[in-house]
Amino acid sequence: MSDKKLIAVVGATGAQGGGVVRAVLTDQSGQFAARAITRKPDSPKARMLAAAGAEVVAGDADDPASLERAFAGAHGAFLVTNFWEHLSPERELAQATTMARATRAAGVTHAVWSTLEDTRLAFPLDDPRLKTLHGQYKVPHFDAKGEADAIFAADAAPTSYLMAAFYWENFIYFGQGPRSGPNGNLVLALPLGGGKLPGIAAEDIGKCAYGIFKRGPEVSGQRFGIAGEVLSGPEYAAAFSRHLGAPVSFYDMPFAEYRALGFPGADDMGNMFEHHAILGEEFRRYRSPEVARALNPALQSFDDWLNANASRIPRG
Ligand SMILES: NC(=O)c1ccc[n+]([C@@H]2O[C@H](COP(=O)([O-])OP(=O)(O)OC[C@H]3O[C@@H](n4cnc5c(N)ncnc54)[C@H](OP(=O)(O)O)[C@@H]3O)[C@@H](O)[C@H]2O)c1
Repeated sequence: MSDKKLIAVVGATGAQGGGVVRAVLTDQSGQFAARAITRKPDSPKARMLAAAGAEVVAGDADDPASLERAFAGAHGAFLVTNFWEHLSPERELAQATTMARATRAAGVTHAVWSTLEDTRLAFPLDDPRLKTLHGQYKVPHFDAKGEADAIFAADAAPTSYLMAAFYWENFIYFGQGPRSGPNGNLVLALPLGGGKLPGIAAEDIGKCAYGIFKRGPEVSGQRFGIAGEVLSGPEYAAAFSRHLGAPVSFYDMPFAEYRALGFPGADDMGNMFEHHAILGEEFRRYRSPEVARALNPALQSFDDWLNANASRIPRG
């Protein structure tokens, strides 16, 4: 039997968990092994993880017994929920609760929970600065994750808390990249309220999480807020101009205009940007490139990320 410490990874076929699995498998020290948890062990992504050296097992965050089986024998567990699959903060909280309890039931030594702030702590529901959504949330995809922190603290294995920044991959997959404006020039439109937006290469999130596992359960109870770089709208646009070979200007879209874009979750995302802008430095100090680099010395800057990804950014 291997004496490697096993890290069981929820979301292994996705961006964050996939990064954790790849960080484990490429660590030359061979200290840890990776177990990829997925609802679809036969999917092409799951097969790729198996081919790369991960153990692939079935597990579903809606099914507590399946997660307890999937965590059995694991030293570590990486836990992430996918709000955007269902857009339900209540379901996200239920899934997080299931994961938290399963880590304790399975005897896991160290959990890393990918959380975000419960924005209602800074903006109570009656605070008029940020619109209340669905009667009980300010930023639903943040709030349910943050609410789950108390459940991790009370009912889970010893847990460290990881707070990721805006993925730069949103510029590729989430329609957030530069688009042709009315005069044909490229425009980056984001609602930043004149502030800066911490961002990160998605792959670096998993590497940072792995850095937390390497520190060990001694850092349970600690929070790690990470970013690759913290840039203003004009700084993002200037970087795009350098890498896309065409000038990109920045449009600081009003929050209400963004909320009205109409895609599923536009109100949630609009409130997220407004939350960041109102809190300013108070929010940004919990998204630190220094914290991220200490966990992951290979952390990418936005220029590094663009060097590798500019050709993948849709234009138009
Ligand atoms: N985009 C951003 O800028 C950003 C920034 C910070 C935080 N986040 C948060 O990141 C989260 C998503 O993480 P991601 O980007 O890594 O996701 P992703 O790439 O979209 O992949 C989703 C992963 O979740 C797994 N999954 C979903 N439902 C599951 C369930 N019921 N049981 C077990 N596994 C389940 C999927 O596994 P299978 O399908 O293989 O089962 C898949 O591996 C969201 O909650 C979002 O709020 C996003």
